[in-house]
Amino acid sequence: MSRDVAIIGVGLAKFGERWNAGLKELMAEAGLQALEDANLKSDDVEMLYGGTMASGRFMGQEHVAALMSDQLGFKNIPAVRIENACASGGSALRQGYISVASDIHDIVVVGGVEKMTDVTSSEATTALGGAGDQEWELFQGITFPALYAMMAKRHMYEYGTTEEQLAAVSVKNHENAMKNKYAQFHKRLTIDEVMKSKMVSDPLKLLDCSPISDGAAAVVLAPLEIARKYNDTPIKIVASAQASDTLRLAERDNLTSIKATSIAAEKAYKQAGVTPKDINVAEVHDCFTIAEIMAMEDLGFYKKGEAGKAVMNGETAINSKISINTSGGLKGCGHPVGATGVKQAVEAVWQLRGDAGERQVNGAEVALTHNVGGSGATAVVHIYKRAN
Ligand code: COA
Repeated sequence: MSRDVAIIGVGLAKFGERWNAGLKELMAEAGLQALEDANLKSDDVEMLYGGTMASGRFMGQEHVAALMSDQLGFKNIPAVRIENACASGGSALRQGYISVASDIHDIVVVGGVEKMTDVTSSEATTALGGAGDQEWELFQGITFPALYAMMAKRHMYEYGTTEEQLAAVSVKNHENAMKNKYAQFHKRLTIDEVMKSKMVSDPLKLLDCSPISDGAAAVVLAPLEIARKYNDTPIKIVASAQASDTLRLAERDNLTSIKATSIAAEKAYKQAGVTPKDINVAEVHDCFTIAEIMAMEDLGFYKKGEAGKAVMNGETAINSKISINTSGGLKGCGHPVGATGVKQAVEAVWQLRGDAGERQVNGAEVALTHNVGGSGATAVVHIYKRAN
């Protein structure tokens, strides 16, 4: 018998180039906000899962979950680090969900953190490259922009997706980020500006890429049956699913889909008893603009080859057909890799509570988050609803 699980508190540290904050300060900013939101004291927390991808490479700091627990004043509770590349946050959330659902713990904090801007761009590129196959990809000079550029090229070849359609993803996500005080960028873009930004890996330009970011996010989980003791608007996690695929892009069945996403999504829809049409708001993993287009198709929101046109037609803007990446996504809000999956859950909660301010999706009832590790070797999908 598994128990229903709810999110009772959320917190975020502003994403961006946070020169004056270390890992500890970022974790405290997000974690203490989440505890306050849940009306909890540090002593009430029973377990912590901390997502981070490469704190050792970026900051020389390992043992991050215990550090997070220490920083948040938790007393001797178990604290476990979860590393699953850019899906570390989503995977940590899933572990938290499992531990509450299976009646092991009642109050669980899930945190995600990364501080990436203290190293040079080239060092960051090498650290991030570890999310792929080090020997077969990174060692041969294939960086993450290059992996996603190959997927983009193939998608353009097979479906006629255009560079302007890719640029439209960036324009929309920067527009959404304008309304988010936690976002790294508050800069409105045009398609022309994206098209003219410097080439990173053909066809992906600087403004097709998510940035190098610092940031942290935290959520507090509890069994639904006691959630209202802490918070008037608990948000129920109605599905949690995850899948894996080959680390090496060259060994995939095709380059235009992320199979782990489709598998995780199918399981999640089944568990939640919903279909893609029921989703009002989705935070998807747009590490590069092509990734948002593939996610829209792999999550079943659009048929293969249709997503680029839909973005161009404005169907994915806030309060249109389906509101995608209302936070600004990884592109506009930023992508501190270990924090991203948890931040997506925070945005889903704000949207379902009706607390998303200027970027609120009217009548949002069902939200989905989608967090990818590497070029698609891990995908984690969660679905949320307001608890009745
Ligand atoms: N989007 C928008 N603006 C960006 C940006 C991005 N992705 N990356 C950098 N900038 C801005 C900077 O803020 C800076 O602006 P300023 O001159 O006004 O201060 C300017 O562009 C130059 O920044 P710089 O740090 O010199 O850029 P860079 O060339 O070293 O790095 C990328 C740019 C695209 C290579 C880097 O952001 C990157 O590697 N992104 C991908 C990250 C990634 O792979 N994540 C994992 C995904 S799976």
